[in-house]
Amino acid sequence: MTASSAVHDTRTAYDAVAPLYAELFSDMLDTRPLERALLAAFAELVRDHDAGPVADIGCGPGHVTAHLSALGPTTFGVDLSPAMIALAREAHPYLRFDEGSMSALDLADGVLGGILALYSIIHAEPQALPAVFTEFRRVLAPGGHLLLGFFAGDDPLPREFDHKVTLAYRWSPDSLAELLRQAGFVEVARLVREPREDERFQQAHLLVRKPQEP
Ligand SMILES: C[S@@+](CC[C@H](N)C(=O)[O-])C[C@H]1O[C@@H](n2cnc3c(N)ncnc32)[C@H](O)[C@@H]1O
Repeated sequence: MTASSAVHDTRTAYDAVAPLYAELFSDMLDTRPLERALLAAFAELVRDHDAGPVADIGCGPGHVTAHLSALGPTTFGVDLSPAMIALAREAHPYLRFDEGSMSALDLADGVLGGILALYSIIHAEPQALPAVFTEFRRVLAPGGHLLLGFFAGDDPLPREFDHKVTLAYRWSPDSLAELLRQAGFVEVARLVREPREDERFQQAHLLVRKPQEP
């Protein structure tokens, strides 16, 4: 499959399930204290550095965009799926949501103080991910933070799994951390938590920073 047909398939798949996804997941942070704690720490780091807004890339229906925005940082959402963007705008009319792809962001160099990419890079073809991380680094200001969320696995190679919406991959935190290092990021912290009863896999977050000096 080519990179562009994979992206096309992801967009079509999320357009088809957007209302159901919003119904199932818009309240998910209410029952996830560890994720809320990470987002609070991320908000504080971005606020203290004060280098620009946060982009929530692959924002879905905008629930995390709104949560982070309520913690202080100016935050906007970007998503491939027009249906997701329409739902996000409807649910959070006071926030900005743009259609766009993580591999070619319509943003100037160094304008963001932070990037959230929660369970959105899981759909990128593994060979496309280095270019996505280079794009994230391009749009982040020096010293800006990136928080990634993904499904974890032990295998050092990314593993395709039967995600309910569309093709997706699990990554070992070490392998993703290494790809981020190669893209020029410095690791700040990581969190791996065990699956809840309604989840199948460990859930991982990696927090990294773009260095001040190139
Ligand atoms: C599993 S949902 C995650 C939504 C939200 N971040 C959350 O944590 O609930 C993945 C989202 O990423 C978006 N997405 C997937 N590939 C993308 C890409 N290349 N660029 C932008 N968004 C993308 C999908 O349209 C979908 O809304």
